[in-house]
Amino acid sequence: MAENLKRIKKHSCLMNAILLFITMIYEAGGISTTELRITPRVVQKGKNVTMACLYDLNDYGVYSVKWYKGMQEFYKYSPLESPTTRVVPVNGIKVDRLRSNETHVVLLRVMPILSGNYSCEVILNAPSFPHYMASGRLDVVGIGGLRATDLRISPPVVQRGSDATLACLYELTEAPLYSVKWYRGRHEFYRYSPTEVPATKIFPFAGINVDLARSNQSQVVLTRVSFGLSGNFSCEVTADAPSFATSIVSNTMEVVVLPPSSPKVQTSQHYYTPGDILRANCTSGPSRPPPELTFFINDMPVTPGTYQVHQAHEGLLLAELYVQIQLWPAHYERGAPILRCEAKVADLYRDDSAVALYSANSDPKIERVTSPGSGSKQHLCQVLALILIIVWTNVS
Ligand SMILES: *[C@@H]1O[C@H](CO)[C@@H](O)[C@H](O)[C@H]1NC(C)=O
Ligand SMILES: *[C@@H]1O[C@H](CO)[C@@H](O)[C@H](O)[C@H]1NC(C)=O
Ligand SMILES: *[C@@H]1O[C@H](CO)[C@@H](O)[C@H](O)[C@H]1NC(C)=O
Ligand SMILES: *[C@@H]1O[C@H](CO)[C@@H](O)[C@H](O)[C@H]1NC(C)=O
Ligand SMILES: *[C@@H]1O[C@H](CO)[C@@H](O)[C@H](O)[C@H]1NC(C)=O
Ligand SMILES: *[C@@H]1O[C@H](CO)[C@@H](O)[C@H](O)[C@H]1NC(C)=O
Repeated sequence: MAENLKRIKKHSCLMNAILLFITMIYEAGGISTTELRITPRVVQKGKNVTMACLYDLNDYGVYSVKWYKGMQEFYKYSPLESPTTRVVPVNGIKVDRLRSNETHVVLLRVMPILSGNYSCEVILNAPSFPHYMASGRLDVVGIGGLRATDLRISPPVVQRGSDATLACLYELTEAPLYSVKWYRGRHEFYRYSPTEVPATKIFPFAGINVDLARSNQSQVVLTRVSFGLSGNFSCEVTADAPSFATSIVSNTMEVVVLPPSSPKVQTSQHYYTPGDILRANCTSGPSRPPPELTFFINDMPVTPGTYQVHQAHEGLLLAELYVQIQLWPAHYERGAPILRCEAKVADLYRDDSAVALYSANSDPKIERVTSPGSGSKQHLCQVLALILIIVWTNVS
């Protein structure tokens, strides 16, 4: 009985939700998209800016349209009020009332402090006053209408010897592009200037190979990257006459080499019995950066350990972790304990190696195993191998 009641309650709750949803769609009456369009989006200071709140009118009509800079309301249009428009003073905003209406707001002589996030909110004249928001960004620049926004490196961490794409994101209005210059540190290595022939120019720099076919005014592709390229890259965008304004953005590229093989585990003894002190080393590399190393016994982390990094060839590094721990009978509850070392480089690389810590009387050898619990598989393997050897010697 109680079960049934609950089900009915749940059911009616769902019905209500569906009804509300249908009502909302109905009231929205066709407002499918609301968009805030700012023209120009990047503008020189002292110019006028037009913001258009684009929405489809519906059966109910508009109750009001509110305009915000960040969270501050600065303009409101309400057809049922008199006057229909109201300007709320916000520092630095000058609204041209004559040219502003139910869909448009014109800002006069904008200043750099007016850069930021703008929103318009459309409230419908429906019973529940549904409202819709749209946002956009305005950037007011000192001169030239130019702003470089980002230098994007993909992949963000590059494997030595592979390709990297560096994209310079910029917005340029009111003036054509004059040049885009690319720097590694302070050294220019690639330039794009649309008015010159050819438009692209390469300046030799040790270790930088530019793939011209894949490079243009917004990106440069580097092939076979080496360690020497880890570091600061910049792109500098220059607008054409009369302003020759420039804007520069930088980013750091990281070139890595991942360990070529699994970490190696070494133990001080061949056999262990409960009560023994286990001393073990885990080494990984050569790589760069060196991996984080962690030891586990039966999947429980072993801490603390001594972690060291040693120099290897070609600027690569070897990582080593040393641990010392006493083995207890509890470690042997499910047979020989499994000692595992895990090597990790950020999200790029993860590998491990494991050994079983056999007692002298249970098994004569230390085995490399892949995961805890695969001991019995190992046994089966040895039996199979033995059978194969016997068959093979009989055949030959
Ligand atoms: C901005 O608008 C005002 C008023 O309409 C006009 O007088 C002025 O010339 C405009 N300024 C620019 C830079 O277009
Ligand atoms: C509102 O003003 C903008 C520009 O000031 C104009 O283009 C648009 O036609 C006007 N809309 C209405 C409905 O008057
Ligand atoms: C801009 O402001 C609106 C309203 O405050 C907010 O919903 C939106 O996330 C903001 N956008 C950005 C990019 O900050
Ligand atoms: C530059 O090249 C990339 C890749 O070929 C392409 O996606 C991009 O659109 C190009 N940019 C320009 C401005 O031509
Ligand atoms: C990268 O280089 C640019 C241009 O030389 C410089 O302005 C910026 O401070 C440098 N960034 C770092 C993190 O060194
Ligand atoms: C661990 O490495 C250190 C330094 O390389 C070495 O002296 C020590 O004998 C190693 N211990 C084991 C158990 O392999």
